[in-house]
Amino acid sequence: MILAFESSCDDLGIALLSEEGVVLQNLLARQIEKHIPYGGIIPEVASREHLINLPTLFKAVVDSKKLSTIDTIAATRAPGLVGSLLVGFCFAKALAFGANKRFIAVDHLEGHIFSPFLKPYPEKPDHIPDKFVALVVSGGHTALFTINNLSIKLISTTRDDAFGEVFDKIGKKIGLAYPQGPKVDYLANLGQEKIRFTIPYMEGELDFSFSGLKSAAIRAIDKTKFIPEQRVENPQEGKFPQEILDILASFRAAAVEQILSRLERLKRSTGINYLAVSGGAAANALLRKRLTEWAVSNGIELNLVNLEYAADNAAIIGFAALLKLKGKEKSSDISAEVSSISEYVKKWKR
Ligand code: KG4
Ligand code: ZN
Repeated sequence: MILAFESSCDDLGIALLSEEGVVLQNLLARQIEKHIPYGGIIPEVASREHLINLPTLFKAVVDSKKLSTIDTIAATRAPGLVGSLLVGFCFAKALAFGANKRFIAVDHLEGHIFSPFLKPYPEKPDHIPDKFVALVVSGGHTALFTINNLSIKLISTTRDDAFGEVFDKIGKKIGLAYPQGPKVDYLANLGQEKIRFTIPYMEGELDFSFSGLKSAAIRAIDKTKFIPEQRVENPQEGKFPQEILDILASFRAAAVEQILSRLERLKRSTGINYLAVSGGAAANALLRKRLTEWAVSNGIELNLVNLEYAADNAAIIGFAALLKLKGKEKSSDISAEVSSISEYVKKWKR
């Protein structure tokens, strides 16, 4: 079995997978309520909470009997908040060293990229095609990758804000509590796409940019003179004027259209046969709908991550570690260190 740790941001995850990739356990210690008063994640609070939650979560997954059946320990190495990463990574590394297990350091993006192939217990993962395109959309990332025989290449990323991040910021502006993404998505369903926000066009570029859309949406909200009275936890209970709901619907449509425009360009330039979509924001209702329509009309096989594995969790890290081990007698990454930047982004920038 493989034991995996994920602690790159505010959620702490520990998972246990069989060597075939069946998810036997996938626990998460959330700490959203600690960050709600600030409207976003406070790194120092996040790492301190991980320290508090880790022993209890670990005991819930592993006892001494189980430890003897585990031969590999994996943990997220990068990218993320360094303080948060250190908690899960150092614990996992120390455990591997002390219990004499193989240690595998995993890039968080590898976890998301392969997550659409992961199935809920007791199913085995889906077959992974030799070649596919991966789209990762979360609060920290908006990126496209090509994958060839499990080898990952970053082809484009956002030049500024990430897709989920702009949903969070627009939601914060109208008084919604963190995480605002799913709440904005819900409220956008109640509005009409009356405004046409521009989709940034960069000649021949597959890069994303969401900060212009964010500023335009904030300006549109300011024009309505709407001022949130209190922080809204449940969007169904908030009182929002119709013009705000219309702005949200228009904003969501423009954000989703930008994703589709990049995919369309990639399809035309190099072709796409198979698209795997992952990340917390892959839960977005309009994004899922538009991607499904687009894939059907273009004869592209679409694999949307199961919602259970969309947001950060340790099962996706364990699965990526298993894939790294596939077919090779991988030595231990015991000397690896954490980093705030993904290895794929570093290689890409060089
Ligand atoms: O993958 P994830 O758990 O963490 C990161 O690696 O960022 O993604 C969380 C992000 C948050 O920004 C959250 O607001 C966003 O995904 N998100 C959504 C939706 N559900 C989650 N954004 C837009 N629409 C949604 N339905
Ligand atoms: Zn993530």
